[in-house]
Amino acid sequence: MSTAISPTAYNYKVVRQFAVMTVIWGVIGMGLGVFIASQLVWPELNFGLEWTTFGRLRPLHTNAVIFAFGGCALMATSLYVVQRTSQARLISDSLASFVFWGWQLVIVLAVITLPLGMTSSKEYAELEWPIDILLGVVWVCYAVLFFGTIVKRQTKHIYVGNWFFGGFILVTAMLHIVNSAEMPVTLFKSYSMYSGATDAMIQWWYGHNAVGFFLTTGFLGMMYYFVPKQAERPIYSYRLSIVHFWALITLYIWAGPHHLHYTALPDWAQSLGMAMSIILLAPSWGGMINGMMSLSGAWHKLRTDPILRFLVVSLAFYGMSTFEGPMMAIKTVNALSHYTDWTIGHVHAGALGWVAMISIGSLYHLIPKVFGREQMHSVTLINTHFWLATIGTVLYIASMWVNGITQGLMWRAVNEDGTLTYSFVEALEASHPGYVVRALGGAFFVLGMLLMAYNTYRTVRAAKASEYDAAAQIPVGVAH
Ligand code: HEM
Ligand code: HEM
Repeated sequence: MSTAISPTAYNYKVVRQFAVMTVIWGVIGMGLGVFIASQLVWPELNFGLEWTTFGRLRPLHTNAVIFAFGGCALMATSLYVVQRTSQARLISDSLASFVFWGWQLVIVLAVITLPLGMTSSKEYAELEWPIDILLGVVWVCYAVLFFGTIVKRQTKHIYVGNWFFGGFILVTAMLHIVNSAEMPVTLFKSYSMYSGATDAMIQWWYGHNAVGFFLTTGFLGMMYYFVPKQAERPIYSYRLSIVHFWALITLYIWAGPHHLHYTALPDWAQSLGMAMSIILLAPSWGGMINGMMSLSGAWHKLRTDPILRFLVVSLAFYGMSTFEGPMMAIKTVNALSHYTDWTIGHVHAGALGWVAMISIGSLYHLIPKVFGREQMHSVTLINTHFWLATIGTVLYIASMWVNGITQGLMWRAVNEDGTLTYSFVEALEASHPGYVVRALGGAFFVLGMLLMAYNTYRTVRAAKASEYDAAAQIPVGVAH
């Protein structure tokens, strides 16, 4: 692969690398999701080996989809968008290369250590302390690369998408550093610096904001660039996008306690988390509406453009999951939903419907651009992918709603004499059909990802090095 080193060209090499790895990690991480979903249908798939048990592969799935698939998608798109909207090349090619290889190393270390059972046991922050340090260093370099490019921009204005990417990068650094403060005892064992309810509070301040800033704010940065680009329309309201940004980041940071309802956490903190979560509906929907309305005058394009379909449907799922979330944050609703598959359904409405779909749509727009091609190898395959992903997501979340409400109601049912009506095993048996449907939905989704991998392979193979260089030239005078 040759790279354009000219200072008048964007650094697309790092974007190409992250884009291709997004697709590869997507197939692996979601493939693992289908595997663990199948273990819940057929427990024999644990193979009686400690390394392949559900308990060890589950965190591998979450790390692979959030940090490997989601992380690579965010890095590919943010480094693409920041260059184009700033009309400036990244500040350093070697730093860009370090960020790419450092991030892949973190992921490979996760793939090795998690099945071996090396874990800090904090959800979404399972990696042990040496990997945490590496992750911290890589992340700071990514921040320097991103903000350094903003500083040397040729345009006066900082495009709103960059505000979202910037917020995501800064807050993720803060969350990671605070939550990973730990006392090492051996090379691969450490204990959290915090204890008891404080530890739980810090963990869910981290956990919720990992959702808020990693899985939401970063992907909104993507939305603010790729939706108007693909629709060939300006953002519906630029003013709303600024209000959206400040309202979202001001509120998200307070909502963490909704993960700790009815625990040892002080009651006032739980109520505060609940109130902030309910208010969060407003900026979330403001953003969703802003994205949707950017299609004003371009709705007809949905008939022929499957990339736009991915982007619009992702916004619909974003709206749905950010309606569901505030509702689940209400203590009385949470009393039913917590511990059940309803939470898992909510997670994947956000993760598959929003995070994965917006990434897929953005990548289908970006990949041909950075490889100097007109479009992806096959638009028909993109369309097939769209339907597989949509049907897969609906099967997943609908089955988990049914399971979740069934479980919640069966667990709380009591006989007249106060004894439980159902045993735990009876609720588990009732959940079995839902697990089959979920595994099927997941398989649909992964099949779509495999089509994307093939389509990407064909697009990349057809591209020539000279086309890469031509595509990377910075146009004079027009920011885009
Ligand atoms: C084919 C697609 C996928 C399948 C079949 C799948 C399957 C699963 C399964 C079976 C679990 C464990 C549920 C449990 O413990 O009962 C899980 C957990 C999880 N998955 Fe996925 N997944 C997929 C895609 C994704 C994606 C793309 C993301 C994120 C971008 C994601 C994020 C998560 C998270 C955060 C959890 C933990 C949820 C919690 O603790 O409440 N998954 N997934
Ligand atoms: C306004 C927005 C949102 C609010 C107020 C919200 C609220 C909630 C609530 C109340 C829970 C259940 C906590 C529990 O019972 O333990 C939850 C779980 C979760 N939500 Fe959301 N949610 C929102 C949006 C999203 C989005 C867009 C995503 C994904 C992209 C997401 C991902 C998750 C994850 C991963 C969990 C499971 C955490 C765990 O227990 O491991 N949420 N959310």
